[in-house]
Amino acid sequence: MESQADQITPASATAVSAPPRASAPAKPAAAVVETTADPPVNKMRRRIVWASIAGALTTFFLMFVRFFLPRSILEPSPIFRIGSPADYALGVDTKWQQQYRIWVTRTSDRLFVIYAVCTHLGCTPDWKASENKFKCPCHGSGYDSEGINFEGPAPRPMDRAKVTLDPEGQIVVDLGTLFKWPKGERNQFNDQDRGAYISV
Ligand code: FES
Repeated sequence: MESQADQITPASATAVSAPPRASAPAKPAAAVVETTADPPVNKMRRRIVWASIAGALTTFFLMFVRFFLPRSILEPSPIFRIGSPADYALGVDTKWQQQYRIWVTRTSDRLFVIYAVCTHLGCTPDWKASENKFKCPCHGSGYDSEGINFEGPAPRPMDRAKVTLDPEGQIVVDLGTLFKWPKGERNQFNDQDRGAYISV
């Protein structure tokens, strides 16, 4: 008869003889670092980036709208009133230059509106009252008081805008209709029936 010691298998012997595993040491609580808080500097940077993106998108949107909408919606009307003929003395009146880019010229028998654009490259000439002429500051073209070129590179007189009188006797200017006198072509400045000038 075998003793109890003789019945123990090699495997059970190993299990019995294996020393207990040492458990891993627990991390100290102080080693857990809190990472969820966002520093104020990062928040500020994020705000600046989003503000830049929003600004760029707004600019692109406005450019898109500006490109596709009809110009007449976004720009002032080319038709406006400038008072009655009695408001203008003989000579050149520059009071509408800033607002409408025009001069009103009155002669002994006509009143007409000169579009204040140099026919060379489009600068706005200056009215020189002491010299009774317009002088372009860009390349020196000179025009007389009726806008007729006489010096410098300007190829033709300055254009004139359509003028009519409304039922109240107010002068109505239409910058959408211009009268020209291109070199070697017909002079349109005498087309009174089409509104090149008003008789006074
Ligand atoms: S734009 Fe006026 S002279 Fe050139």
